[in-house]
This record gives sequence, C-alpha cells and structure tokens, in this order.
Amino acid sequence: MARIIYVNGRYRPWGEALVHAEDRGFQFGDAIYEVCEVRNGRLIDETRHMERLERSLAELRITAPMARPALARVLRETVRRNRVTFGMVYLQVSRGVRPREFIFSNAGPMTPTIVCLARSMAPANAEAMAEVGIAVRSMPDNRWGRRDIKTVMLLPASLAKEAAKEIGAKEAWFVDEKGFVTEGASSNAWIIDTRGRLITRSVGPEILRGVTRTTLIDVIRQEGLELVERPFTLAEAKAAREAFDTSATSIVMPVVRIDDSPIGNGAPGITTARLRKLFHAVAEVAAA
Ligand code: PDD
Repeated sequence: MARIIYVNGRYRPWGEALVHAEDRGFQFGDAIYEVCEVRNGRLIDETRHMERLERSLAELRITAPMARPALARVLRETVRRNRVTFGMVYLQVSRGVRPREFIFSNAGPMTPTIVCLARSMAPANAEAMAEVGIAVRSMPDNRWGRRDIKTVMLLPASLAKEAAKEIGAKEAWFVDEKGFVTEGASSNAWIIDTRGRLITRSVGPEILRGVTRTTLIDVIRQEGLELVERPFTLAEAKAAREAFDTSATSIVMPVVRIDDSPIGNGAPGITTARLRKLFHAVAEVAAA
C-alpha cells in the first residue's frame, strides 16, 4: 500500500512529501519529534507524548504549530490513512524555513514545519525478539548536554547503532565519562540487581525522560517492586541479574548480553518478561 505522509497541512503520497531545502530542521537539526506506539489502531500514552512534545518546543522556543486537539487529529488521520493497526506514528516539528543563518530571532516569528508519518510493525516480530532478548554494545556518550529535549540530532545515536550492529547487537548503551550508563541510543536503560531492585538513571539533562519509562514506573509501583533511580556503572550492568531497555517501539525489551558479557544466565529475565506483559494494562489507550 502506498504510504501517505502529512506535511504542513496536506496528506501527500510518499514521493511528494517534501520539505524546503532551507528548513532549519535540515540545516541545523533545529527540530524536535515524538514517536508514539500504535496498538490495535489506538495511540498508547498519547497524553504523555504530547506533554513532552510541548516541553521540547518550549525549551527551544519553537512556536507550537497547532493546538493539542488539532495535532491529535493529524496523528489519527495519518494512522488511519496508512492503515496502521500495530506500529508507530512519528511527529516532527522544526522551527521552519528561513535563509541559512545561525541566529533565528532576527526576522520575526517563524512558521514551524510539521511532518507526521506512520508505519506498521508486525507485533509477531517484536514478540519473537522479546522471547530471545537482544544484545547491546556500550559506546562513549558523545551527544550534546540537553538530552532531555527530544531533538532530531540523532547522528551520534545512528552511528552508535551502526557500531552495535557490527557486533550483532540491536542497541547501543551510552556510557558517560565517569563510567555510568546514561541510556540507550533510542531507549532508556534498566538493570535488576541480585536483590531484585530495579535500577534506572534518574532524570536530568543527561537522558530523555522516556514516556515508556514513566509508565513502567507506574507498573513497578503497582506491583510493589523496589525502584531505585540512580546512575549505574557499566560493570554493575554486566553483573546484573536482569537488564532491559524501554521505548515506545520496544516497550520492555530484555537485554541478554552487554558487549561480551551475558546477563544472568543469558536468557530474558523473569521480572523483565512480567513487566513487558503488564505494561499495556497500565498504559493510557487513547480513543480512536
Ligand atoms: N526513541 N532515550 C532516547 C535517546 C530515545 O530516543 C528514546 C525513544 C527513549 C525512550 O523514550 P520513550 O519511552 O518515550 O519512547 C529514551 C524513539 C522510540 C525513537 O527515536 O525512535
């Protein structure tokens, strides 16, 4: 089926979904985005994703392109036109188009560029991956200092994932200069220690506050499990009983190897599998 992409108010066939050459998203990475899971044709945790989108826009002083209900309609219409039942919807907002100049505040307010696309992802593939778990590769964290803003400056993440692929790993985990894991290239990183405590880095400018992370904390509280939000070292992660990552596209994905070290017995952990199962009972399911 031909894909349809929303660009600035119009639903376009894939080949005609174009943005201007002097868009600041293209020239400066001056754009932010959100990725929301689509499950049974419904958006998962839409409210939290929209809240984070608005926060990212405000942090960068990009004009909000439209009110939340209008954006919600664009997300739904894009999902509908692409007949996505399981998969994701992606929304990107750049500061807009202007002749190339670093300073953006000289010539008055800008009109943001909005792009929305949706893609199907077979749930069977995700489940098959979760059954066996994934390997991750550790990489030095060479990103900018405001990782709490979900910008499209994804070159370090993209290169890290390429490096991970070279050793048969599906994700990269970034490690800061002190030896602490920050997060995955496109996910948050978690471990479970030998006492059964769930450990994930506390939020701050070093990591993105994942929506899946936030909802999983609701699940963890509901289950009465112990949560510790603090940095953990790569060595701690390698010695953990279980490890996993969270994101809108992976939900809760078991990590069974970090670099050359198997995690636990090298198979997905029991608690990880349980959290994955419980996730959608707690997450918000938006009206169609
Ligand atoms: N990435 N950390 C980073 C650096 C991410 O890029 C992501 C998500 C997350 C998890 O956030 P959430 O749970 O809200 O998806 C953490 C998306 C999926 C992506 O870039 O495709």
